[in-house]
Amino acid sequence: MNQSADRIVSRLRQGLRLPVIVAPMFLVSGPELVIASCKAGLMGSFPTQNARSIEQLNDWFLRIRDELAAVRKAGGTVGGWAVSLIVHPSYDRFAQELELLQEYRPELIVTALGSPKRVLDTVHSYGGAVFADVMSLEHARKAVDAGVDGLVLVCHGAGGHTGAYSPFAFVPEVRRFFDGPIVVGGAISDGRGVRAAEMLGADLVYMGTRFIACPESLVNEEYRAMMVRAGMDGVVSTKAVTGVMCNWLKESVAAAGLDQNRLAVDGKIDFSDVHGGHKPWKNIYGAGQGVGCVDRVADVAETVEQLLNEYRGAGVSRGVDLPRAASL
Ligand SMILES: Cc1cc2nc3c(=O)[nH]c(=O)nc-3n(C[C@H](O)[C@H](O)[C@H](O)COP(=O)(O)O)c2cc1C
Repeated sequence: MNQSADRIVSRLRQGLRLPVIVAPMFLVSGPELVIASCKAGLMGSFPTQNARSIEQLNDWFLRIRDELAAVRKAGGTVGGWAVSLIVHPSYDRFAQELELLQEYRPELIVTALGSPKRVLDTVHSYGGAVFADVMSLEHARKAVDAGVDGLVLVCHGAGGHTGAYSPFAFVPEVRRFFDGPIVVGGAISDGRGVRAAEMLGADLVYMGTRFIACPESLVNEEYRAMMVRAGMDGVVSTKAVTGVMCNWLKESVAAAGLDQNRLAVDGKIDFSDVHGGHKPWKNIYGAGQGVGCVDRVADVAETVEQLLNEYRGAGVSRGVDLPRAASL
């Protein structure tokens, strides 16, 4: 890893008890989840479009900054925080959001759905890092060429807009041309998975699904209960809800009267009205294949303790020891 990549990774991992970013999730992550995650020793995040207005976004930023600063002032340690930002040209709040980022200075900006170039100068000017959320080698290469500091590789099984590739293929192939920080996500829902991602060559893990049912998230009780009931066979991948391939809880798809076997053709992606009006996914709940690890509603602090125990226990395998590579 080159020096600057090293610096970015150690800066982002500062204050973390586990190399985990609680991933940004539409209609799920708000300031409470971010603050609880940072206090528990992970990096918290949310997608800016979760705030219904620019004023509300400002309030959320203010709250996150002040509450984390108060913990630091009292001598406590907290993880940093991140936002995901839509950089697609149709996203109408882009310019206003960029101004707020300059003011509140989150440690990490993850760009989605467009070129990260649009934010690089601004975020670098305050010392932040820009990572691009990518699902293919082509997008990873484009983002690297655009000058991003790091990549978020969203892999098969992820909640929300899901990737098509296995992390076992994606991480090593990206490592052939990119030496910088890599975050990997997709169905990583326990501490062993975090360890495995590090062994694959990732620096941090994006973990979304595991935190949806936490009381600090924005979701309703029905969604929480469905998360607890579902296993990976309770998740369906379909384009039928939003026009792009996403993973959803089957139970909610059926309850909304949708035919999960009907795959819609790709439509034009338009984010100009993402904050208002009725959206078809309002009562259809997203979750990734790692949902089976959610077996009860536990708060963020408790969830992190469990992840830590699993992480520490990882590496201990069952059965007879395999011959050591050195003696083969
Ligand atoms: C309900 C839900 C909503 C999501 N919404 C967004 C989003 O608005 N922006 C984004 O960049 N990623 C979004 N994601 C993807 C996550 O950031 C992350 O890639 C994913 O949760 C990782 O996989 P996992 O859910 O299996 O842990 C969403 C994921 C879920 C489960």
